[in-house]
Amino acid sequence: MSTDSRTAAGQADQTALLYELEPVVEANLNRHLSVAKEWFPHAYVPWSQGRDFDGPLGGEAWEPGQSKLDETARTSLILNLLTEDNLPSYHHEIALLFGRDGAWGSWVHRWTAEEGRHGTAIRDYLLTTRAVDPVALERARMNHMSTGYVSMNSRQLVNSVAYVSFQELATRISHRNTGNYSGDPLCEQLLARVAADENLHMVFYRNLLSAAFDAAPDTVMEAVLDVVKRFEMPGATVENYTRKSVQIALAGIYNLRIHHDEVLIPVLRHVRALERTDLGPRGERAREELSGVLDALDAAARRFEEKRDARLARRAQAGA
Ligand SMILES: [Fe+2]
Ligand SMILES: [Fe+2]
Repeated sequence: MSTDSRTAAGQADQTALLYELEPVVEANLNRHLSVAKEWFPHAYVPWSQGRDFDGPLGGEAWEPGQSKLDETARTSLILNLLTEDNLPSYHHEIALLFGRDGAWGSWVHRWTAEEGRHGTAIRDYLLTTRAVDPVALERARMNHMSTGYVSMNSRQLVNSVAYVSFQELATRISHRNTGNYSGDPLCEQLLARVAADENLHMVFYRNLLSAAFDAAPDTVMEAVLDVVKRFEMPGATVENYTRKSVQIALAGIYNLRIHHDEVLIPVLRHVRALERTDLGPRGERAREELSGVLDALDAAARRFEEKRDARLARRAQAGA
């Protein structure tokens, strides 16, 4: 079975799987709607801290001293916001793949509506509290969105479901840890609310991945392997991403250790990827390779921690 719609056989298999999974999508959409709580972005923004900026309103220009957040918190918030900002491209990708009809289409639109709150709420918070340079932020948004986003798993149904299962959880953790790191209780409260949405998105996709595993175990194992090997955050196309991600990793907001322990392993455990008994030779080969990839990631995470600890010790010594 191939689920890459770029070939005729893949298109047929993908369509068959879309039909097969539709009842699962419907059940999980209903489950999602029954547990998702309505919330309002405006209620999380401290409007009383806001005032006019320079420009047509003749207010006060932004200066770094006005921000209560440190540089790492600002970097992480900007990166998370730019990631949320690219929603039109994500919508395009999943609408192309899942379609706009039936339960799949209802999910696509509901998910898009929920994601739309995240960028709105975070931007309003950042501008009202003068946490970041509003001109640089808008230029970064224009730049980032003008490039658009093309998923590495574009038009591949199973790879995309596996990818979003990991990515929604990664985004949840990244928002939550950014909030914790910020030192501002209002920022923490807002990002915890956003993270709760991301968690429900993860649950939806993870349940779908589980059902896909049961329907096509070998194909899904190969897809999971591929996605774990090539995983990249959706914000990876943001300017200076490497420098920003190192800063975020060192601050403990998101790094390889978190990626391995809190994202990959919990999702894989939930879908019983490493314990399945329904695999054929293709699936068994992929699972064996997946185990090796996870071990290598774990080892890389350990090396990262050692380097980080050594760096912190050097700093402490220099400061002492
Ligand atoms: Fe989001
Ligand atoms: Fe999400």
